[in-house]
Amino acid sequence: MKKSNLLILMFAMTLASCGEQQMPDNMRSLATGYEMYSVHCENCHGAEGEGLARLIPPLKNSDFIKKYPDSIAGIIRHGQKGEILVNGIKYNLAMPSNSVLTDDELSQLVNYVKIRFGSVKQ
Ligand code: HEC
Repeated sequence: MKKSNLLILMFAMTLASCGEQQMPDNMRSLATGYEMYSVHCENCHGAEGEGLARLIPPLKNSDFIKKYPDSIAGIIRHGQKGEILVNGIKYNLAMPSNSVLTDDELSQLVNYVKIRFGSVKQ
């Protein structure tokens, strides 16, 4: 894990455990993103965003996310199926839609995914 990722992770975990009081908005947002990722994404995409063999694509350094950063929210909300190419490998399984996340949680999760998995410069 890159040092910066590790720092973000530790930071988010600390924030998640210290509750709501006096937490600046952007930090609370990262903490929520971390929490949402653990609950809704980690099972499939892995704790490190590494994906699973040729079945589930990685989020870590995903060129798909770099190419289509604006599609992430829609993919999470509506799911994704059909063949896609991620880092030169073809995947073709269905990702289920998620209607449980609120709009706020969704946007915080998207930010978190972009920052955590290195697809956006910090
Ligand atoms: C049940 C397993 C499963 C869960 C849960 C899941 N995904 Fe996926 N995800 C997939 C699969 C499978 C694909 C590839 C779909 C295809 O082949 O078209 C995918 C594709 C993606 C992609 C586009 C490809 C890439 O790797 O860049 C993104 C981004 C993504 N998922 C993010 C998420 C996020 C964020 C969550 C949490 C809300 C999540 N996924 C939850 C299985 C899952």
